[in-house]
Amino acid sequence: MSERSCLQFAESKSGNPRLQSWSEHVVCAFALKLRSEEGDLSRSNLGLKRCLRVTVLLGVIILALSLIERTSPAQDTAPPPQTMTQSSPIFTPEHRTVMDAVHEFFGSRQKPVQPIAYTHKVHLANGMQCTDCHVGVDRGPDARIPSVNFCMTCHQVIATDKPEIKKLAAYRARGEDIPWQRVYGFLPSAHVKFNHAPHIRAGVDCAQCHGDMTKQTVAVRMVDHTMGFCVQCHREKNVSVDCVACHY
Ligand code: HEC
Ligand code: HEC
Ligand code: HEC
Ligand code: HEC
Ligand code: HEC
Repeated sequence: MSERSCLQFAESKSGNPRLQSWSEHVVCAFALKLRSEEGDLSRSNLGLKRCLRVTVLLGVIILALSLIERTSPAQDTAPPPQTMTQSSPIFTPEHRTVMDAVHEFFGSRQKPVQPIAYTHKVHLANGMQCTDCHVGVDRGPDARIPSVNFCMTCHQVIATDKPEIKKLAAYRARGEDIPWQRVYGFLPSAHVKFNHAPHIRAGVDCAQCHGDMTKQTVAVRMVDHTMGFCVQCHREKNVSVDCVACHY
């Protein structure tokens, strides 16, 4: 930018009542401020040094502002964060928008409402074992929830007059399974892998991770499965605390 164009730029901006954008406005204000500091630029014999200073300053501002303007709207249209693959050790807990994060946070902590007032207390008091119903727990990653058919093996004859059991029978008659809501679990964005079987084999009690079920009707999130909770026990029991032991 020559001395002349430098002045022309400042001049053109000062004469323009409707500035194009916020960035132009700031540039303009800055140019005008410099001009008033220098006195009337058109009459003073402004040296090349001065103009260079103005040019460099303006350049830096324009660059910074154009970067801000380019990056902020782009975030709205950016594709969702790349899904994790086994090959990438990096994972991001970021959410696309703040509202996404807020929804997910509150969604995950919402108290589930179960379709049937199931009761752990009564069944456990009747001598049933966890593994009678949660048949996968000592064999693989998932504990599993029993099907309505399994419940009906007993409730075809037990407590058939009770309203909750009538609901149970109605699900079965419609050929539907019971839409139980999840109590525990992780947000997909945390990329946690969990496996029940090694814990059960190592003698970790269900109650350490789920609380005392003999006092619960429907399951309640008694224990918060935070990362600190997992890692603390792993340290105590000398189990791996490598990130990849629990994350994918
Ligand atoms: C091994 C037999 C057995 C199985 C299997 C079984 N229950 Fe029960 N259930 C019982 C007994 C016994 C009671 C207590 C009945 C009573 O107190 O009159 C009971 C009580 C209940 C009650 C309380 C009824 C009331 O209002 O008093 C509900 C609800 C219930 N069971 C749901 C289920 C569901 C859901 C399943 C399947 C996940 C299931 N049961 C599986 C034996 C069983
Ligand atoms: C070391 C902690 C730990 C222990 C011990 C443990 N659980 Fe879990 N359990 C979890 C976690 C974590 C989840 C959520 C897993 C997920 O969403 O991937 C879970 C989920 C469940 C679920 C939901 C269904 C499913 O398959 O995910 C049931 C049912 C369950 N556990 C039953 C049991 C029973 C029964 C025992 C004991 C025999 C037990 N758990 C022992 C941590 C534990
Ligand atoms: C008669 C079958 C039965 C028995 C026995 C039983 N459960 Fe369950 N369990 C269920 C049903 C049905 C649900 C789904 C409703 C609910 O969330 O309470 C469930 C849910 C759970 C959940 C919550 C799963 C989730 O959504 O994350 C946990 C944890 C759990 N049971 C642990 C246990 C443990 C530990 C024992 C033994 C001490 C046990 N259960 C015994 C039937 C049973
Ligand atoms: C109360 C203790 C305890 C808690 C709490 C616990 N763990 Fe573990 N975990 C163990 C033990 C003990 C083993 C080792 C079993 C073995 O040696 O095979 C294990 C093994 C594992 C493994 C298999 C590791 C391997 O090297 O094969 C995974 C994955 C795991 N835990 C994840 C978790 C996660 C995720 C949580 C939290 C939700 C958790 N654990 C909470 C005690 C615990
Ligand atoms: C013993 C299991 C375990 C180990 C080892 C572990 N994590 Fe985690 N991590 C978890 C669990 C479980 C959660 C989810 C906690 C929750 O939902 O509140 C989690 C959550 C996170 C989160 C937050 C994700 C989110 O969206 O909320 C980050 C980040 C994280 N872990 C990073 C790491 C890093 C880095 C390492 C290795 C230094 C590591 N973790 C090792 C179990 C583990």
